[in-house]
Amino acid sequence: MGLRVWFSRDAPTAPPRRTSRDRHDGGAAGSSARRRPRRHPPSWSPHLQHARLNARIRTTLTATLNELTERLGRRPRVLEVGAGHGTFSETILATGAEVVVTEMSAPSAATLDARFRHNPSVEVLHDPDGDFTAVGQVDAVVYTAVLHHIPDYLANIDAAVTHIREGGALLAFQDPLYYPRLPRRTLLASLVAFYSWRVGQGDYRRGFATIGRRLRGHYDESQVSDMSEYHVVRQGVDEQAIADRLREDFADVEVQRYWSTPSSLAQTVGDRLRTPNTFAVLAHRRLA
Ligand SMILES: C[S@@+](CC[C@H](N)C(=O)[O-])C[C@H]1O[C@@H](n2cnc3c(N)ncnc32)[C@H](O)[C@@H]1O
Repeated sequence: MGLRVWFSRDAPTAPPRRTSRDRHDGGAAGSSARRRPRRHPPSWSPHLQHARLNARIRTTLTATLNELTERLGRRPRVLEVGAGHGTFSETILATGAEVVVTEMSAPSAATLDARFRHNPSVEVLHDPDGDFTAVGQVDAVVYTAVLHHIPDYLANIDAAVTHIREGGALLAFQDPLYYPRLPRRTLLASLVAFYSWRVGQGDYRRGFATIGRRLRGHYDESQVSDMSEYHVVRQGVDEQAIADRLREDFADVEVQRYWSTPSSLAQTVGDRLRTPNTFAVLAHRRLA
């Protein structure tokens, strides 16, 4: 079978072809089984250290923005929500787009300011309330590993859509699928893989205690590890509700499902088992 599972739409798709860009970016696992995938520059989402997941997001971003540039006949203006430290902003910039990055966190906004201070194509906005004040109109909105941090993600998407010009796009990557629709074995595998990795990061006591609470379906409001991860508390992110919402405003909406977990071993095993736990949603061509 090999490592052939990629983002699957509602039906599985063929794995992406490996391009010179993939190789440059760290790329897919490669044709040689002996070659170890390279790690990417740090992203705030530990899952995205996996070269295949990371390269897939970059490839999709680049293809979408190149198509948009060609169709518009000018540089698109792109809003990246919750850019963290700018890992994916670089990919957006590389397409020639102008980028507005927002960050709710003041330290992250300061880091972004420092990173892009000499780049006139980047505007950094500290957006403490996440309400897009001062963003203006854009041609595309990108969220990477952000929606599951936003308590009312549907309202946030509603607000973002009002900033997208006709013909534009909204792309969201790397959010956990809605738990109530996941097969029990997938949910269990995801939780065990995630919290085993967490335990391996060092804080054994806290890690084991968190795993215990997760397996019992109990959430402790006094624990940061329970309450800061909104997706755990509210059972993932409802990808179908997001897609339904976006279909009201976009001509073409696609949900891609795939397996993602921080541990390299568990990532490889999950890829082979073809058991998606994560999604991306790609909405193209904003209607008038
Ligand atoms: C897991 S990090 C992902 C960072 C980056 N997108 C990446 O993939 O490397 C989530 C980021 O979203 C930011 N964030 C969460 N909610 C936000 C909102 N409503 N508006 C702007 N930023 C937000 C957090 O401050 C955090 O930096």
